[in-house]
Amino acid sequence: MRILGIESSCDETAAAVVENGRTVLSSVIASQVEEHKLYGGVVPEIASRRHSEAIVGVTRQALEDASLTLAQIDAIAVTYAPGLIGALLVGVNFAKGLALSTGLPLVPVHHLRSHIAANYITNPALEPPFLCLVVSGGHTHIILVEDYTKLRIIGRTRDDAAGEAFDKAARAMGMPYPGGVHMDKIAQDGNPEAFRFPRPSVDGAPFDFSFSGLKTSVINLIHNASQKGETLPVPDLAASFRKAVVGSLVHNFIAAAKEIGINKLAIAGGVSANSLLRTELEHICRENGWEFFRPNLNLCGDNAAMVGAQGYYEYLAGSRAGTDLNACAEMPVDQG
Ligand code: KG4
Ligand code: ZN
Repeated sequence: MRILGIESSCDETAAAVVENGRTVLSSVIASQVEEHKLYGGVVPEIASRRHSEAIVGVTRQALEDASLTLAQIDAIAVTYAPGLIGALLVGVNFAKGLALSTGLPLVPVHHLRSHIAANYITNPALEPPFLCLVVSGGHTHIILVEDYTKLRIIGRTRDDAAGEAFDKAARAMGMPYPGGVHMDKIAQDGNPEAFRFPRPSVDGAPFDFSFSGLKTSVINLIHNASQKGETLPVPDLAASFRKAVVGSLVHNFIAAAKEIGINKLAIAGGVSANSLLRTELEHICRENGWEFFRPNLNLCGDNAAMVGAQGYYEYLAGSRAGTDLNACAEMPVDQG
């Protein structure tokens, strides 16, 4: 079964054709990041406009790259939640129009579920149940994937998402948007022991996260130094901050795995590209004899191949949308 996936939840316009949830026949991404960089973050109004301009061409290209016409597609899957509402609406309305004109079934896909599904593409042998750490610019969740469409939230951030904390701290360190990627690179040359940040915890909720205190403490450190006319060594700051965020993610994720008694772990979302997070979890899983799965680097960020992958399993579970499908800025992953 061939699914055309469409993604427009943030600042990437993407379309892809995926066969049976696992094989990517094509994947096209038009990134707006260079434009948003000028403003230090995503400007929602600009994102919506660029999606409108790009979506037809990106979809055409995805079909062309797969050497297929719409007549050879079996269903259309689209990200409908969560995300920037104006941006989501572009993809949703386009997909609805395409479904109506072709008569193809339309399958709504939750953005975080699709991030998890990036793992099915990279690791054809991976099947639920497994425990997944989903870390993106907007979300940080520990999710028990009981089945492809049955998910249970085990832990979540109480304030900033991990990606958001990386981006805001990186901005304070003078790095361009999106800062998480740059911080990861610069941290390679720094001393992670140079600055000590406490590992944040949430009272009574051992699997929940809190990153806003950590973010504020690094921003205050930088501001205090600059008021005294001092400059702090950015590689050391980056390495220390990355260590603190990754330390918190890994600590709670491993604690949750032990508590649940599951030995199959995966990571997903933009921050799952973080080199320290990947190597630390690989190491711990190897030591414990657990299986560890992560998406290829080109599937960690927003893309439509993951939408086509999750769309397949949502389709098999019977999920269909009509022309009344709406986009939602917020939607819990276990209800999507
Ligand atoms: O999943 P994603 O592409 O978009 C959302 O759904 O939010 O995640 C984007 C986030 C950004 O905050 C970006 O800085 C972060 O992922 N990110 C990273 C790395 N690569 C991307 N954070 C840390 N280390 C990286 N290597
Ligand atoms: Zn995302």
